[in-house]
Amino acid sequence: MTILVTGATGNVGRTVVTQLLATGADVRATSRNPETAGLPVDVRAADLENPESFSQALDGVEQVFLFPSPAGAQGFVDLAEAKGVKRIVLLSSQAAAHEYYGDSPMRVMHLLVEQVLEKSSVEWTFLRPGGFATNTLMWAQSIKESGRVHVPYAESNTNSIHEGDIAAVAVKALLEDGHVGKAYELTGPESLTQRRQIELISAATGREIEVVDQQGDEARAALKAQFGAYATDQVIDTMLSFYQDTMGKPADLATGVDEVLGRPGRTFAEWARDHKADFTA
Ligand SMILES: NC(=O)c1ccc[n+]([C@@H]2O[C@H](COP(=O)([O-])OP(=O)(O)OC[C@H]3O[C@@H](n4cnc5c(N)ncnc54)[C@H](OP(=O)(O)O)[C@@H]3O)[C@@H](O)[C@H]2O)c1
Repeated sequence: MTILVTGATGNVGRTVVTQLLATGADVRATSRNPETAGLPVDVRAADLENPESFSQALDGVEQVFLFPSPAGAQGFVDLAEAKGVKRIVLLSSQAAAHEYYGDSPMRVMHLLVEQVLEKSSVEWTFLRPGGFATNTLMWAQSIKESGRVHVPYAESNTNSIHEGDIAAVAVKALLEDGHVGKAYELTGPESLTQRRQIELISAATGREIEVVDQQGDEARAALKAQFGAYATDQVIDTMLSFYQDTMGKPADLATGVDEVLGRPGRTFAEWARDHKADFTA
């Protein structure tokens, strides 16, 4: 039984590979650039936007961890069915679960892939995480270079999740029965402001970090500069509304991690310790 991990070079996919290997599973991975993937498994070249590129990679595969790529999703699932794949665990998003996100791309793109799977004959499980703790890695360069970081709406609240917990839920859903047809909302175990997250990175690294809080047009310009071509005005608007709506109000916490893993999610303090090298090396 081979398990295929797509998006295997990403924060979550790489951790899924590591955790699956620890269970003794037979793991194969894909990347658009297998030669630089740096993974300890058989890595095949494939691009989700060109589903036919998975023709070889899906040979003998029973389960798939699927990175969400709306372009090509239908073709990928059709091919997976034809190849005899039984189960697909999708990395989706909490945005798929909440109308709050309206028709923003981060909701629409994940819903589209979910709908393709719902209409298929494969067993599916959706992982719907909120914000990843790894998003704070965007502060690493500035912290390393200057000991200072610019943060849009530093007092906004987050429920950041450790990628190791998303991966652990994925592994359970891939290997155990009982998760088929479930959509798990996944967050970290605590609501923290971004300012508090930086304090915890500071504690983990032993380095003082100055926070420069940004609001309004300054925050918009900073997000534009940060996300560039990836972020349309609509995406920036959604991000700004989200920051503003979570000021002075604790972030909602979901129960999926506890439900599936039987333990609370890992804290941001733990995440910061795990990633100390990213903020110091
Ligand atoms: N960040 C958040 O707060 C958040 C919250 C909820 C959901 N999400 C979801 O999680 C995703 C990010 O996950 P991550 O952090 O693990 O990834 P990541 O570190 O951003 O890495 C991106 C991964 O996507 C793969 N990829 C991109 N385009 C591809 C394509 N056309 N075909 C095949 N693979 C492709 C890349 O593979 P190669 O380059 O090796 O081909 C790489 O493994 C987001 O895109 C979103 O869908 C994120």
